[in-house]
Amino acid sequence: MGSPATTLTADLSTLDLDAEIRRLKRERNAVILAHYYQDSEIQDLADVIGDSLQLAQAAQRTTADVILFAGVHFMAETAKILNPQRIVLVPDMKAGCSLADGCPVDRFKAWKARHPDSVVVSYINCSAAVKAESDYIVTSSNAVKIVQAIPREKKILFAPDKNLGRWVMKQTGRELVLWQGSCIVHETFSLRKLEGIRLAHPAAKVIAHPECEEPLLDRADFIGSTAALLRFVENDNGREFIVVTEPGILHQMQKRAPGKLLIPAPPLASCACNECPFMRLNTPEKVYLALRDLQPRLEMAEELRARAQLPIDRMLALS
Ligand code: 13P
Ligand code: SF4
Repeated sequence: MGSPATTLTADLSTLDLDAEIRRLKRERNAVILAHYYQDSEIQDLADVIGDSLQLAQAAQRTTADVILFAGVHFMAETAKILNPQRIVLVPDMKAGCSLADGCPVDRFKAWKARHPDSVVVSYINCSAAVKAESDYIVTSSNAVKIVQAIPREKKILFAPDKNLGRWVMKQTGRELVLWQGSCIVHETFSLRKLEGIRLAHPAAKVIAHPECEEPLLDRADFIGSTAALLRFVENDNGREFIVVTEPGILHQMQKRAPGKLLIPAPPLASCACNECPFMRLNTPEKVYLALRDLQPRLEMAEELRARAQLPIDRMLALS
């Protein structure tokens, strides 16, 4: 007899997963929200594909009974914070994020205590506990706008991404106190290899996500969130683009801008480490099982949820 894992794989292999997921979605009145960094097969099953802000807005709007979040844990937490009465499913609870994991709430509170009377702005890539300790949540789409809306005389703490924070400082001319966190994926891009590709494709425009390190951002023709990068490729009159972010985004870029040459920026080593290992934990099999069993389910204490909602609501009102 095979192991339980072998049996499970064998059982699922006989199913038309695509059709089964669509059937379960209807039966459960479920919606699938997927981030641009998901595998293309999951993006193709989704009802909404977006960046962190678009997905938070979709979670705010939905009337479905069940939200399956094909992204990472902090994104599903945001959906739960906005929808305490709905079931929020996470296909793989291990889908974390180096930024969220690198900012534990006890250290975050101690950092805040060292900077009294500051406005605390946190990137959405953080835990619900850190959100609950923040004044504003931002995403890479609206961080500049929200920081600009804070009165100039206020001291601002920005966590947990130092690269996004440094870019926001440049855009706004504001001094921010930065938490020293970073994204393991966006840190992996090699400037030397990028220069090599630029030599081979001199007409290509470099487009980068603000989670990248400063020397790479300095070479970019355009910097923006995943949704902004997608719009840029669609609307710009260039024909070739070097894309410096997680390559999952290329799926939608290819669909929306067929005929344009999209070159994923290479990582330092000859590995697939420009793919987010957390995002890529999700598979159609896990999506199917989650919808079938209505598990794993994200639960949250009401007291924490209510406190975490305030800074998210402030962000959504300003977006
Ligand atoms: P955006 O979705 O805001 O572009 O952020 C990218 C990211 O790294 C999500 O974890
Ligand atoms: Fe976190 Fe980076 Fe993965 Fe986004 S790409 S989920 S920031 S580790």
